[in-house]
Amino acid sequence: MKMNSNEFRQMVRELAMDDRVQKMKTFPQHGSVSTYGHCLRVAFLSYRIARRFGICIDEEAMVRGALLHDYYLYDWHEPGHTRHAAGHAAAAAENARRDFDIGDREFDIIRSHMWPISPGNYPGSREALIVCAADKLCTLEETLFMR
Ligand SMILES: [Fe+2]
Ligand SMILES: [Fe+2]
Repeated sequence: MKMNSNEFRQMVRELAMDDRVQKMKTFPQHGSVSTYGHCLRVAFLSYRIARRFGICIDEEAMVRGALLHDYYLYDWHEPGHTRHAAGHAAAAAENARRDFDIGDREFDIIRSHMWPISPGNYPGSREALIVCAADKLCTLEETLFMR
């Protein structure tokens, strides 16, 4: 996925360069893709979906939420993370709120991105629904084709 959009790069630059976000590069996510790479891909696909279909949204909040959606900061492949699938979205949302100046919308995007696997947390905005869908598409692609 070529992130050939200056506007997108501008939007993610500050957050993506942050050392704490960069730390996600040290954790593998799916196949050969790091958690950082995965988050960046989800952010860009969300941006493209919204643009492609002309969906009226808060682009910056969506991209920031997408970039932090897996900000749980551990390697889920290691033993001891048996509740990862159900619990990491809430953990990532709390971490993001602790470390960055995010609003309620970003918080909800992160917390609800595992819907319907964590069924209680329904995406509460168009931004959250787009990120939730983009996450699943990227996960599928990374797991099947990026090994
Ligand atoms: Fe996730
Ligand atoms: Fe994800």
